[in-house]
Amino acid sequence: MQGIYQPAEDSLFLSKFLKKEIVKIKPKKILDMGSGSGIQAKTCIKSGIKPKQITLADINKSAIDILRKRFPDSKVISSDLFGKIKERYDLIVFNPPYLPENEFDREQDTTGGKNGSEVINRFLEQAKDHLLPEGIILILTSSLTKRIDWSGYRKRLLGKKKLFFEELYVWELNSK
Ligand SMILES: C[S@@+](CC[C@H](N)C(=O)[O-])C[C@H]1O[C@@H](n2cnc3c(N)ncnc32)[C@H](O)[C@@H]1O
Repeated sequence: MQGIYQPAEDSLFLSKFLKKEIVKIKPKKILDMGSGSGIQAKTCIKSGIKPKQITLADINKSAIDILRKRFPDSKVISSDLFGKIKERYDLIVFNPPYLPENEFDREQDTTGGKNGSEVINRFLEQAKDHLLPEGIILILTSSLTKRIDWSGYRKRLLGKKKLFFEELYVWELNSK
């Protein structure tokens, strides 16, 4: 059985901006993509969002089993990105696998292909069709992620954080 991603510095850094965004835009429908342990969905609930306003999605079946128990009143979908998702959202939050894979690390929860951006680029391509008018995306990337294709989006850097061997970035995106 594959393990689930335990909340780390990237998770906490993203959730800090998620809290602020919830206060600012008061979203009615939120998608937590690549939910893992559910930390971003939990942040939403702590910020006053009702469980039924949140959809959680992950490709990892072990994570889905745990999320169904942890969030019985939310929609939990086993999906490769938007493959099984039909709806649109005011806010989509994603802490993606962003590291370039190498011979030691090819894990699905941390690495996104050769450049680290393959899952991100597929997500960006699909996510436009799942935003409500005025909807936004909050996404985390790293200085180690190469070749991100932001086309079709306006982006704003909300924050950056220097770690030992990389810098993390949190972006707010709007569809153009
Ligand atoms: C870095 S972890 C983030 C987990 C959690 N959201 C957090 O902030 O701690 C990335 C998550 O994305 C999921 N994931 C990876 N590829 C995916 C895909 N193609 N579709 C959906 N989820 C994916 C992984 O299983 C993992 O749970």
